[in-house]
Amino acid sequence: MKQKEQTCIDLKTDRLLDRVNDLVERMTLSEKIGQMSQVTGMGGLTDNLRLAIQQGKVGSILNEVGLESLNEIQRIAMEESRLGIPLLIGRDVIHGFRTMLPIPLGQAASWNPELIKKGARMAAIEAASEGINWTFAPMIDITRDPRWGRIAETLGEDTHLTSVLGTAMVEGFQGEKLSQGDSIAACVKHYAGYGYSESGKDYAYVNISESELRNVVLPPFRACVDAGVATLMTAFSDLNGIPASGNEFLLKKVLREEWGFSGFVVSDWDAVKELKVHGFAEDNKMAAFEALQAGVDMEMVSTCYQGHIATLLREGLIEEKIIDQYVRNILRVKFELGLFENPYTKAADFPVSGNPEFLQIAKQAALESCVLLKNDYDKLPLRLENIQNLAIIGPMADDAYEQMGTWTFDGKEEWCQTPLQAIRAMVGDRVNIHVAKGLETTRTKNRDGFEAALEAARKSDTVLLFMGEEAILSGEAHCRADINLPGFQNELLKEIAQLGKSTVLVIMAGRPLTLGETKDYANALLYAWHPGTMGGPAIADLIFGKASPVGKTPVTFPKVVGQIPIYYNQRNTGRPTREEDITFMNDIPVRAAQTSLGNTSFHLDAGLEPLYPFGFGLSYTTFHYHNIQLSAEQINLGETLEIKVELSNTGSRAATEITQLYVRDIVGNITRPIRELKGFQQVHLAVGETKTIAFQLHTKDLAFYNRKMDLVTEPGQFNIWVGGDSNASLQASFWIKK
Ligand code: NOJ
Repeated sequence: MKQKEQTCIDLKTDRLLDRVNDLVERMTLSEKIGQMSQVTGMGGLTDNLRLAIQQGKVGSILNEVGLESLNEIQRIAMEESRLGIPLLIGRDVIHGFRTMLPIPLGQAASWNPELIKKGARMAAIEAASEGINWTFAPMIDITRDPRWGRIAETLGEDTHLTSVLGTAMVEGFQGEKLSQGDSIAACVKHYAGYGYSESGKDYAYVNISESELRNVVLPPFRACVDAGVATLMTAFSDLNGIPASGNEFLLKKVLREEWGFSGFVVSDWDAVKELKVHGFAEDNKMAAFEALQAGVDMEMVSTCYQGHIATLLREGLIEEKIIDQYVRNILRVKFELGLFENPYTKAADFPVSGNPEFLQIAKQAALESCVLLKNDYDKLPLRLENIQNLAIIGPMADDAYEQMGTWTFDGKEEWCQTPLQAIRAMVGDRVNIHVAKGLETTRTKNRDGFEAALEAARKSDTVLLFMGEEAILSGEAHCRADINLPGFQNELLKEIAQLGKSTVLVIMAGRPLTLGETKDYANALLYAWHPGTMGGPAIADLIFGKASPVGKTPVTFPKVVGQIPIYYNQRNTGRPTREEDITFMNDIPVRAAQTSLGNTSFHLDAGLEPLYPFGFGLSYTTFHYHNIQLSAEQINLGETLEIKVELSNTGSRAATEITQLYVRDIVGNITRPIRELKGFQQVHLAVGETKTIAFQLHTKDLAFYNRKMDLVTEPGQFNIWVGGDSNASLQASFWIKK
């Protein structure tokens, strides 16, 4: 073993920055470049990898798992490299590690930051117990396009909701302090604009005005930076002609200068090398140059930094002080994580993964993520005493793997409890269960299983269908142009619907599907996203009424693909549509004369409205909003308005409602959205109970970037709505004084 230079033990002072500076001063250029390089461990601990770590040529590794191997990798870094600098060990811990939570979009449907934080804490503990100290999450890209497969990983379409829930995830992953043994560094991604990929096709071009960037896309990143996120990942995308991984405006001006971010930036996988493929750099050397110029501290997987930084320095294209700064940014996070003191992991220091407490968190997350979209004649909850024969049909009823969703490299399929298992356990022998898959997978396009499914349905008084999309149909690079239920699922549904039984459809999917046709074939529709390990018990509790649905959709459900992009906070346009304006294609007389007078903005074949609006979700009870009151009719800039509203449970069971506050700034220096979410609260109400709910709205909460890109709150009139979804009708107005 080489003689190792001591790093922290003999430093004069414990102060973090001094320790960082001291170390940087003693590093060779090759060791500095090493810190800026992240390699993939996918091939295991090969001789080449061992040598590279010994030579100080690796700062971080991703996708190597297994405690023994990771401890050995850290040991090589600590004991066999000259300076003994520990490695950052990264992994995509996106929605759970071994115990799987619902996909992030599903978690977002809970609108419950506390629960989401708990889930991220659990994931951090499980990952940290196996030697991982860095996750590439949360993904806080705003998207309005469900064709995009990665919508599954987002927290939905809304800036405010994503900011609150993204911050909660960061806090959960990073714990009270990064140096806690069970904290892992979070990484917000993908900075920025990735969710606006043209036509919802992954990696495609992105065109977003600076106004849209600053008002819609960037605020969640800002919120997470303010919450202390340790790292940030660039997007693959070409943003307005300047790929995000070479985008100085994003990385220097906004992130460092305006927001004062002090963590470090990692590129996405190969994204530095891809600057050449974009046609933004002529070769790998210039790709390294552009990424360095822009402010990418660490390169993921591709080796442009390794190969070319020395040349760029020699040729005077970059200065060594930039390199030193990037290395400092990376080392600071390593020190903050306490890795120099505690590089190794002992499993015994952690609770076991998948313990009952963790399973309970996963179950609660799955339960609160389910959104009840339709419940005609109160078909749900099912009353056991009324059922003798129950059909359970569909490719997603008993598929442990598929219910985990995308990004589940480490998820334990064998821990998953499926709906079929959970329902069997719940009903015991009180009900005869008739099972038929109907379709082999969600993509199956034949009728081979139809007769067995129809037979099961005929024998039953109630039919439960589990359909949707397999996990692989969403996630990275898995975009769809047609987002109906795939395969022959609608055909099977239609034939079952014709039997006239009570039919309940549960959909598990990675995106909001277009359900225009589907919804008519079922009396009740529960949207479970991909619910993770405990999806089965959570769904069973909801179906049989042990719990009432809480979830509200964090994304608008289009009727048809042609409505995309569709989102609640649109602009008014100069010709907004009223219900009475909508004409459908077939109602237009033949050879009707063309006129533009009185025309408004809608589709002749889809109208104006989505299938389900943002924030929508039913409960087993009914809620009534009334008596909205404001603390003042007018306030001054710098003051806070209090909005109070009464919420009554007018139905027949105790339940939780997610109360939402929307605002419209009537006139602005730039046009403003017709509604913007500004607050939300979970409220639990007993039967017949009424509660007063209060929201505080500070004038700074109404700020936006104006024509000059100044963040301002403008005096004038504002409308307010409070209710259970983005179409809330209980309204009030107030003014900010000039
Ligand atoms: C590419 C993905 O875009 C990113 O989200 C992920 O974290 C990295 N690969 C690492 O796996």
